[in-house]
Amino acid sequence: MDISDKENSCLIVGGSHAGAQLAISLRQMGWQGRIKIISEEAYLPYQRPPLSKALLAGKQELENVYIRPETLYEKQNIEFALKTRVAKINRKAKTVETQTGEIISYDKLALCTGARVRKLEICGTDLAGIHYLRNFADVSRIKGELDSPKKIFIVGGGYIGLEAAASLKQLNHEVTVVEAAGRVLQRVTAPQVSNFFHAKHHQQGVSIVTNKQVAEFLGNNKVVEKVVCTDGTVFEADLVIVGIGVRPNEELAAQAGLKTNNGIWVDEFAQTDDPDIVAAGDNTNHPNKLLDTRLRLESVPNAMEQAKAAAASICGKPTEYASLPWFWSDQYTIKLQIAGLNTGYDQVVLRGDPADGNDSFVAWYLKGGKLLAADCINRPKEFMFAKQLLAKKIDVKPEQLTNENFELKQLV
Ligand code: NAI
Repeated sequence: MDISDKENSCLIVGGSHAGAQLAISLRQMGWQGRIKIISEEAYLPYQRPPLSKALLAGKQELENVYIRPETLYEKQNIEFALKTRVAKINRKAKTVETQTGEIISYDKLALCTGARVRKLEICGTDLAGIHYLRNFADVSRIKGELDSPKKIFIVGGGYIGLEAAASLKQLNHEVTVVEAAGRVLQRVTAPQVSNFFHAKHHQQGVSIVTNKQVAEFLGNNKVVEKVVCTDGTVFEADLVIVGIGVRPNEELAAQAGLKTNNGIWVDEFAQTDDPDIVAAGDNTNHPNKLLDTRLRLESVPNAMEQAKAAAASICGKPTEYASLPWFWSDQYTIKLQIAGLNTGYDQVVLRGDPADGNDSFVAWYLKGGKLLAADCINRPKEFMFAKQLLAKKIDVKPEQLTNENFELKQLV
């Protein structure tokens, strides 16, 4: 495809991190044709991580977290169709149909549809006061109900649950978190790190209960008042936030006959099995040569890097995407930065002491003596070295990692 042909059109479904980055990258790579982002949300693409942090805590507004200002999109001639949901893709005709029946044609299509919240399927979830937290509209609704100190009940001790707990506790609400698993952050961290975060929240006055499942919500006048757990425990609640994970938005692709399996199946160039359709972000299942596996990642760095690869594919300059996954979370004054994936670890060693009151340590994950990942708590320097050690697959000895006097710089 001649990317200087102004008649070409690239349609991007999803005003996500990936969608916005893809549009910007297309222009940077010389795509001269039309670019249109179709988004079901009412706003220009915004950063999602601050939703459970600064936005919920009232420290920032939506305008502060736009991925790019409106003027940039105007300058770059990137069009938007907001409040518009794509209902169907017709690959043969190379068109999409919106929910209102509008037909829009494309030469290249990018699916940046992200993920949606996993719903809690129990009685009482239709009561007012029960919320999920995935987009700006959710945060606005929650904030609209927080005019005075409230009893807030959070279901799920993952990233969303703990970040929301920290933000809301700092606003002086009474916060309880119920986690079904034996410890918080179990999906992503080792017990040492879970215990550290549990203790931190406890210190701040957040009550965390593990090994407990919610059975139903009870209300009065259609507003939530009580949370009943499967063991019979009852909690009072004015407001509930559910954060129990997400599901990839892959149905559009599946209905169009594209391969999906825990995400839209793409190759290392973000290309689906249709040469005119790419996909990027939380919704893709992709190979990663560095990790030697296929995976689906829920992370901003993944969305940004994969979107660049997708743009390169559209422009006919395929560039392999094989970046090291990394993540972060901010809770109170603690910055957790995670480099790599700890899947299958058989050893955890610590640099620093989680219990010494300094809120500063690293948990290193190894498998068969090889470094897999590092959770860095208020340790930006170690995080930087961890990324390099992992990306370059450098051999390390546990005693080098744990010895505070050993300069990791020597290894990289
Ligand atoms: P999550 O997967 O991180 O955590 C969900 C938690 O809910 C798990 O601990 C799980 O054991 C628990 N859970 C599941 N079912 C439950 C039930 N019935 N009752 C009680 N607990 C239950 O998902 P979360 O926190 O909803 O986050 C959603 C997405 O947002 C993820 O993709 C996450 O990566 C992303 N996110 C990332 C952040 C970051 O990187 N800092 C911050 C906020 C969100």
